[in-house]
Order: sequence, then C-alpha cells, then structure tokens
Amino acid sequence: MDFVKKSGGNFVILSFDLLNSSQIEYILSQVGKESFVLVGAENLKVGTRVNFTLYTKLTLNNKVVPILQSGTEISQSRMEKMKSVGDLHIRKGEIDLFSKYINEHLDISEEGLSRRCRVQLQSVSILHVNLVLLLLDQGEQGSFEQGRELLKKIYELCDQLLRDLQLVSRPWEIFDQADPEVFGQVDRSVVIACLAAATSLRTGVGVPREILLAGLFCDLGLLQLSPKCLGHLNSRLERAKLDAEDLLMYKNHPVISLRILLERKIQMSERLKEIILCTHEQADRQGFPNAIAPEKIPVESTIILFHEVVDLEWRVSHGQNKTSFPEVWQDVYKREHESPEAFTLSFLERISWENK
Ligand SMILES: [Fe+2]
Repeated sequence: MDFVKKSGGNFVILSFDLLNSSQIEYILSQVGKESFVLVGAENLKVGTRVNFTLYTKLTLNNKVVPILQSGTEISQSRMEKMKSVGDLHIRKGEIDLFSKYINEHLDISEEGLSRRCRVQLQSVSILHVNLVLLLLDQGEQGSFEQGRELLKKIYELCDQLLRDLQLVSRPWEIFDQADPEVFGQVDRSVVIACLAAATSLRTGVGVPREILLAGLFCDLGLLQLSPKCLGHLNSRLERAKLDAEDLLMYKNHPVISLRILLERKIQMSERLKEIILCTHEQADRQGFPNAIAPEKIPVESTIILFHEVVDLEWRVSHGQNKTSFPEVWQDVYKREHESPEAFTLSFLERISWENK
C-alpha cells in the first residue's frame, strides 16, 4: 500500500471493492466536485480581518480569481467592491476558518443565526466527506492521527451547530435552502442526521448530539453495496425490487458501518454503537439487522429512521415540485400516525412538531 502512495497514487481501493461496491462512485462524486463553496458578502463585516482568501468567478470564462487575500482587513471600499461582483467563494479546505470567523463576529439576528447554521452545516458536510474518504482509503491504515483530528473538528462543529439550531425558530428552512452542491447524492447522512437532531432539540426526545453523530456514520456500510443495489434505495417502490442477495447485504449495512468505524479505531461510547446498530430496527419487529424487541431500540435510532424516511420522500418529491422539508415531514407523520407500523403512536406523539 505504501508503494502505491509513494508512486503518486492518491487513494488506495481494493480490487474486490472496486468491482463490487459503490466506493469508487462515492470517491469520484466527491473528487469531481468544485473545490470552492459559495459564501455571501452578508457574512462579512467592515473593520474585521479575514484569515481565509475570498474568490470570485469571472463570468466570461468561469475562472476563479482571488478578490480578498487572507490577512487583509475589510475596508468599506473593499466591501463595496465585493458586493458589486456578486458571488463570493472560499476554498473548501478553509471552511473551518470561515466558520470560526462567523463565530467570532456574531450576528444574533434571526437571519444572521440562520446564515451561521448554513455555514456550519456546510462545514460539517465537507469534513464528513473528508473523514469518510479517509475511512475508505485502504492506503491510510496508519493515519489514525489525521482521523482523530478530523473527528475532533466534527465534534466541535456539531456542538456549535446544535447550540445555534436551538436558537433558530424554523431550523428546517436551513436544510431547504442549503447549497445542494454540498450534499452528496450517494451519501445523505449529513442531511438526515441534522434533520433528526433538529427534531430532537425541538421536542426534547433523545440526545441531539448522539443523534447527530450516529446519523453521520450509520450509513457508511451502504458504500459497500453495489451501485445497482444502491440505485434501488432511492425510493420505497424501488427498495421492494431488491433481489434476495442485495436485500441481505442492505439489511446488514448497520453492522458494516460499525465494523468500518471499529476497524479504523474511531472511539465511540457503547451507547453510540448501539444507536448506530439499531437505526433500522422497527416497533413492529420488521426491522433489521436483528429485529429486536421495540423496548430495546434506543429512541435516538428511531428518530434517525423517521428522518431517513422523510429524506427519502423529500428526494422523490423535491425533484418534481420543490416540496419543502416541513411539508414532507407532515405528510410522513400523518401517514405513519394513521397506520403505525415502524413507529409506535406514543413515539409519534412525542416528536410531533405541533405546538413546539
Ligand atoms: Fe441506514
């Protein structure tokens, strides 16, 4: 493996995984993405100094050029110039510096807090991708330090995001307006984890931080499935068409997720492991991988499952008529409430958004 790296290879993937899993799809979908993210001038303040570089895109040739170098103070005239060029971008690798800048120059208006949540969501998403790539890279067995550092940053950003989500009156709007470029098509974990944590914060059901962390990592195992199998997971109808072998693999994905984390020595509490393992267990004992008794399912796992269903329906309906998350959430809630199967009535009543 070291030989491959020293020979200039960026990423090591085993031939079995290359042929049988969706890892290469995931890697290419991430590597092929822009290395810049959009940030608005409204996030910047005159009189402050930035420690990241701001860029703009030239309309003629789409070329990205710097407009404000790292270490520069934002004067009134520079601010006006930046506002006049329209879209501003930063390098993805500097997203945590940008996130820190926003935290240091607090705008406590409702709009300011929402903007901050959006930036934190982007930051969590970008660091999550970096960590997933590191976990999948077979040439990085020794980069324990790098993984621990990334995880520490993710923990810090998640804590900050949760604090801010608590202060925003309509947190789900943040997910509707989030930059679609930031979220993967292969891996929807960040959106599901954040939606579930927002519901937990709003209703007091479950521990939001555990929900957020378990949600980020519970679907790692999906990347071991074949692209064909993964393609069938995009709607409830398609899921019913999985053949016996693919179904078995799919039903085992929480176990595979946990195995990847343990093999890479990611430190987790016993509770977090249990939540990850139970994210597809159901109240009617039709869940997987173990179809355990409903009273043994952590409520955090059930909240993640509920939002996985919401996200699945949102992905189907969003492409057609731009339905918002709250609308899909209420539709799923109503349907499940009318004939409870995967979720108990008491769980559904506890997570109701009404009067919250
Ligand atoms: Fe899952």
